[in-house]
Amino acid sequence: MSYKLAPSILSADFLNLGRDIEMLNSSEADWIHVDVMDGMFVPNITFGFQIIKQVKQVAKKPLDVHLMIAQPERYIKQFKEAGADILTVQYEACTHLHRTIQQIKEEGMQASVAINPHTPVLALRDILSDLDMVLLMSVNPGFAAQKFIEHTWIKLRELKDLIHERKSHTLIEIDGGVSLDNAEHLLKKGADVLVAGNAVFNTADPLETIKKFKEINIHQFQA
Ligand code: DX5
Ligand code: ZN
Repeated sequence: MSYKLAPSILSADFLNLGRDIEMLNSSEADWIHVDVMDGMFVPNITFGFQIIKQVKQVAKKPLDVHLMIAQPERYIKQFKEAGADILTVQYEACTHLHRTIQQIKEEGMQASVAINPHTPVLALRDILSDLDMVLLMSVNPGFAAQKFIEHTWIKLRELKDLIHERKSHTLIEIDGGVSLDNAEHLLKKGADVLVAGNAVFNTADPLETIKKFKEINIHQFQA
């Protein structure tokens, strides 16, 4: 199985968003990562439903929607209607996480939970088997182009072990500070999905950069 690359349109050119989505359509990217921020859970504010709906109309790849919003359970249905295929909620934003996960699945989306750098992997132990994916935040959520937090390596190892121990098929997504410099090592250590915003869009040729990301041969790690 090859890994998935999910470029984050947080770093796209908003005046040419349609062009950037077409670029992703024609690229080897697997998913389109959409970072929703509410100015409450995180200091920044980004996209609403209308933009996601329009992105969905042109996107030929699944929308991987990452909610960095307070009380995301208020909006599960609306994100489905806007076009989300995979929906990630932040662990720290959910009082009744189990119920929220069930709501996401009932709407026919894949359910994923993100944990912030300070949240221990073990916090997910009792919910892991319900999750299609866990997103490890490797920066503090809120902004693109931040520096990868090194402690993520330990958490990746712990999460991999937990998934193995629970015999679960949950995917691991890494989000924040991912680049061509650390991607190979992240995959080697068990990541299944890499998000990359700055490292894709702020390069001279994003299409070529995506190609380089996807050329990383993970089969060598699976032997
Ligand atoms: C951060 C977002 C990330 C972000 C990644 O709050 O969740 O998805 O866009 O950005 P880069 O790849 O630029 O670190
Ligand atoms: Zn994200």
